[in-house]
Amino acid sequence: MATYKLNVNGKASQVDVSPDTPLLWALRDVLHLRGTKYGCGIGQCGACTVHLDGKAVRGCQTPVSAVGNKSVTTIEGLSANGTHPVQQAWVEMDVPQCGYCQAGQIMAASALLASKPRPTDSEIETAMNGNLCRCGTYPRIRMAVRRASQIAANGSKQPTQSAL
Ligand code: FES
Ligand code: FES
Repeated sequence: MATYKLNVNGKASQVDVSPDTPLLWALRDVLHLRGTKYGCGIGQCGACTVHLDGKAVRGCQTPVSAVGNKSVTTIEGLSANGTHPVQQAWVEMDVPQCGYCQAGQIMAASALLASKPRPTDSEIETAMNGNLCRCGTYPRIRMAVRRASQIAANGSKQPTQSAL
């Protein structure tokens, strides 16, 4: 066991875990941030996606000892009250079905838009490709990413058909 100081959602946190403990376990089991989900545990589904310094990473494949001073953002910290453009678009497009994969989808989408505010369809496809959804919400996810890009650029006015 060792003590790690983490910056999670803008707050200083401390976890006492072994160095190879995945960040996902530290978030869920130690810090009780359970919005980030465990899907496969082997880096294949994206349910555990969080941001490290704004980049999407797999929480199940990131040892706590590798986090260092990087800022960790989870779905709970993406916005104070659910008003991040991606969250607004997800609600508007009614994306989730069972919901299990959706925190990871939103974190992947928000990291994409932070680096590419106006992504092409193929950039959306590539960025979201590793986030699996057993309910098959992919068409709504793609629409919502495009809509989130529009909201970020213009505010939350109703979408035009070409934005969809
Ligand atoms: Fe991490 Fe599936 S739980 S990629
Ligand atoms: Fe059910 Fe994606 S909404 S797994």
